Amino acid sequence: MLKIAHRGAKGYESENTLKAFQKALDLKADGIELDVHLSADGHIIVMHDETIDKMTNGKGAINTFTLAELKSFLIANTHQIPTLNEVFELVDTKCFINVELKNADTSKNVVSLIEEYINKKDWNYDHFIISSFDWNALKEVHNLNPNIPIGVLTEEDLDAALAFAESIKAKAIHPDFQLLDKEKVQKIQERGFLVFPWTVNSEDDIKKVKNYKVDGIISDFPDKI
Ligand code: G3P
Ligand code: CA
Repeated sequence: MLKIAHRGAKGYESENTLKAFQKALDLKADGIELDVHLSADGHIIVMHDETIDKMTNGKGAINTFTLAELKSFLIANTHQIPTLNEVFELVDTKCFINVELKNADTSKNVVSLIEEYINKKDWNYDHFIISSFDWNALKEVHNLNPNIPIGVLTEEDLDAALAFAESIKAKAIHPDFQLLDKEKVQKIQERGFLVFPWTVNSEDDIKKVKNYKVDGIISDFPDKI
């Protein structure tokens, strides 16, 4: 049962910061999940929302700022917004990285960065899984490089997610955990996919989902798993 730290260990540190990813490593998470957008000058920026309004002392859409401008804003008065490259450097093959594409325009840049790391010593495709609710973005990833593992995100339709996962030879389905029961998990696994539900935080829910025999759990509290 893989422990995947949602937005870093979001339960303990400001989400999607290097501090949160370090916390996930300290808690011995098997994987970290994070969200990405593109800056105006094409850098891959790690943040959940499309704007910096909620997390930083600034205001505006990520794609209207250059990386240098984004670096001038602070999260919780302390942390700079990380780039995906900075997270890969920090993780340094210690766990796998689930990159969630929040926009279709990120596919190409994320694939290129992963390919750059695959060529480095000790990195391999198992260190990555790209997920998205935007299935066209996933199709583009598959077309660009079919070796990159893909997780199909869904919050409503498991059967549609399964059919799509088959069409792009995905590795996993990432469902809202509330869609699942034991039989559904078994059905997904019988079709050859791993099941990584999100975002499972309470002890009761973690217990319930573990009982379904999923392959991994995405949680703000990876240590509770
Ligand atoms: O990847 C699973 C989960 O993170 C999807 O929802 O809103 O937390 O990005 P959200
Ligand atoms: Ca996410």
